[in-house]
Amino acid sequence: MLKILVCVSGGGTNLQAIIDSVNQGAITDTEIVRVISNNKNAYALERAKKAGIPAVCVSPKDYADREQFNEAFLKAVDEAAPDLIVLAGFLVVIPVQLIRRYENRIINIHPSLIPSFCGTGYYGLKVHEGVLARGVKITGATVHFVDEGTDTGPIIMQKAVAVQEDDTPEVLQRRVMEEAEWIILPWCINLIACGKVTVADGKVHISE
Ligand code: GAR
Repeated sequence: MLKILVCVSGGGTNLQAIIDSVNQGAITDTEIVRVISNNKNAYALERAKKAGIPAVCVSPKDYADREQFNEAFLKAVDEAAPDLIVLAGFLVVIPVQLIRRYENRIINIHPSLIPSFCGTGYYGLKVHEGVLARGVKITGATVHFVDEGTDTGPIIMQKAVAVQEDDTPEVLQRRVMEEAEWIILPWCINLIACGKVTVADGKVHISE
């Protein structure tokens, strides 16, 4: 049984996709052991509660400095003893100690085709604003392992989504979620639960 911890900041639609996939059996042999939000008002916390998943809020606002927040965050993660940490719309920079302790055991969903429209400053709607400003015709989503850089870790899966002429950032965000994020994030978790994902030389191999 793969024990996963999901970190969230906002609406939690990706969390919902994971919950639904576990309940419907599209993600096998997996238990969501805890949800952590940095934002006490995140609707994602409500989704966790409705699904009966233990959820906690660990907010940088409640700590005197970053070091104390990092310590509390690490504690909240370690208590859950996860096999895999899933960043599902988590908009906080995670402590480097955590990245080292959970090497190749943290995955992130990013709403573009990495290496485009990623890195510092590209998160949430800003990604889609950048896509529309540049006028690219294809965007998408990427699931990757988290390393010490921003959106630089080994790529597990990507899915392309067409940009349309009259898109607004909000419309495009929704299409990328529906056509890519909610599909590839649960898919990757299931592949990991099935032991099919390995990393070598910074690249991911998925076995049959
Ligand atoms: C999603 O689009 C996710 O890809 C993005 O935040 C949104 C969260 O939505 N994450 C990033 O931008 C990370 N750099 P959700 O709370 O409804 O899942």
